[in-house]
Amino acid sequence: MGEPIRVAIDGPAGAGKSTVAKLLAERLGFLYLDTGALYRAATLGCIGRNIDLSKPDEVVAAVKKMFIELRGRVPYLDGRDVARDIRRPELTREVRYLAANPAVRRQMTQVAQRAAKSLDVVAEGRDAGTVIFPGAQLKVYLDATVEERAKRRHAELLEKGDNIRGEEVLEAIRSRDKSDVEREDDPLQIAVDAEVIDTTGLKIEQVVDKLEKLVKKEVAKRSE
Ligand code: C5P
Repeated sequence: MGEPIRVAIDGPAGAGKSTVAKLLAERLGFLYLDTGALYRAATLGCIGRNIDLSKPDEVVAAVKKMFIELRGRVPYLDGRDVARDIRRPELTREVRYLAANPAVRRQMTQVAQRAAKSLDVVAEGRDAGTVIFPGAQLKVYLDATVEERAKRRHAELLEKGDNIRGEEVLEAIRSRDKSDVEREDDPLQIAVDAEVIDTTGLKIEQVVDKLEKLVKKEVAKRSE
């Protein structure tokens, strides 16, 4: 058995990372690793403990005591399945406090690396290729215009029965972009060796097909 294959998919909110990464992992038989779920679980833990999120030291102390793990695809916080709770829109707005905290980032990076074990994985997030798996055989940066990303997210929310206005979703995406790009530690950036794919106007299947081919090419190269 050779070294495990790591596929890292990064990009801004709403670029289609989760859908693409899940489908790609299924096709390849790899583990799907949602690193954003870890930041969300840590945020949920802080909210549950009534931590003032604007106080970094309190956040760090609280997160150190939490037990966050990924069991396959399912995020657990202190032994509880939090897959549903971490998707609440009001929580999404608060994740930036934890994402901007270097000590929290170190901890979440370790949790993600531990979850990958020595398995072949498709990891998605903001720093999967730059920090978590810098040696990933394939790094992908998925992008799309902010309007397209907001449109997709809006459709998703409407489908879930959330009657939010399109303008509001666009504003929320803009604000997340800003905090993801401007934070000092591990900001969202394009890894030098990443394949950049603009998904505006592309169908999910087209993107997955393209990535599947790229992974297979990498694997074939290694077995030459
Ligand atoms: O991908 P998702 O929207 O679930 O991520 C939630 C938040 O966690 C993002 O807005 C981002 O700020 C943060 N995050 C991060 N680093 C990662 C994954 C997510 O900072 N690797």
